[in-house]
Amino acid sequence: MDLVADHIAKIAPSITLQITSQAKKLIDQGEDVCSFGAGEPDLDTPEFIKEAAIQALQTGKTKYTASAGILPLREAIHEKLLLENNVDVPASQISINCGAKHSCYQAILACCNPGDEVIIPAPYWTSYPDMVKLVGAEPYFVETKAENGWKMTADEFADSISGRTRMLILNSPNNPTGAVYTREELEAIAEVAVSEDVIVLSDEIYEKLIYNDRKHVSIASLGKDIANLTITINGFSKLYAMTGWRLGYTAAPKAIADAIDTIQSHTTSNVTSFAQYGALAAIKGDQSFVQDMVDEYDMRRQYMLSRLKAIKNIRVIEPEGAFYFLVDTTPIGLSSTNLAEKLLSRYKVATVPGIAFGHDKSIRFSYATSLDVIKKGLDRFEDFCKSH
Ligand SMILES: Cc1ncc(COP(=O)(O)O)c(C=O)c1O
Repeated sequence: MDLVADHIAKIAPSITLQITSQAKKLIDQGEDVCSFGAGEPDLDTPEFIKEAAIQALQTGKTKYTASAGILPLREAIHEKLLLENNVDVPASQISINCGAKHSCYQAILACCNPGDEVIIPAPYWTSYPDMVKLVGAEPYFVETKAENGWKMTADEFADSISGRTRMLILNSPNNPTGAVYTREELEAIAEVAVSEDVIVLSDEIYEKLIYNDRKHVSIASLGKDIANLTITINGFSKLYAMTGWRLGYTAAPKAIADAIDTIQSHTTSNVTSFAQYGALAAIKGDQSFVQDMVDEYDMRRQYMLSRLKAIKNIRVIEPEGAFYFLVDTTPIGLSSTNLAEKLLSRYKVATVPGIAFGHDKSIRFSYATSLDVIKKGLDRFEDFCKSH
């Protein structure tokens, strides 16, 4: 007898988390591993955020909260979305979830019926297809091209729509490619979504990690019609170095927001009470450290770009957001898993195989790691490429 349900057999454990734990194991054994695997900031959560959570604990904020989250936090997110993103969603339609990952899953669960198709431009963040499969829907991949900056065009989107299409998952700035959609590109995509009645899940978790004076645009800001179809998702993990706190949020049209609240009320109840007070301090507090963080990432990005461009046997295009490089390793000819395993076991460099993102001839480097590690790791990667 199978002890595990059929719908679970369709999904696989997260490859990114597996590689991170393999690298951690080697480090625990005393190996000098240069880790480019993790999708999390190498900085600690700012002190004022920790203080707010400690104070919440000390003042008895230790009970259940409303399932959608504490009202001051939802109001602060409403204000942030209005002022910074030009997205007008009332606090009553904002839900605080256990990380943006949880936000994405609940949004998909709220909207998709078994058999529905969900369009996912590839390369994609590793968890989207499995989330879609978990609810019985089907991912439909649109292969983007490096020469288009790894972005799906509105025409490609229109061509991929079928009678079963329910949702598009957009992620800008993008993990793993660093691609950032422009206002014009989003306007064209929004026009197709509105005319074909496709719900848009817009994952904007990297919105402020953006370079070259590029501006982040929220697709929900591009008019009432597209706003009525869009779930905007963001969180605290990347921007405030709060990955372990598990804090994300959805801002959605009323019917979807109500559904998300119902799901959450029966599953997690609410996000950890005192973590929500940390999030409130983060969003209300002095944001100056954000620019410092972006400047630091930008410096590493530029260093990596110049080093990677000089390495033969690989191809790289400049990422304009997030903190990743997707390096095209087609000329090396190995599968991405084989390549990443060799790099880790022989050269002690941890990366994530592109197969995790639907692109098997690539590996992903995260630059959310110190410049010293980046320098040493790229020296080793260069040696690896020379020998292949
Ligand atoms: C594109 C994207 N969305 C969502 C998440 C999830 O973030 P969180 O830690 O808030 O769950 C990640 C994390 O790597 C991500 O890369």
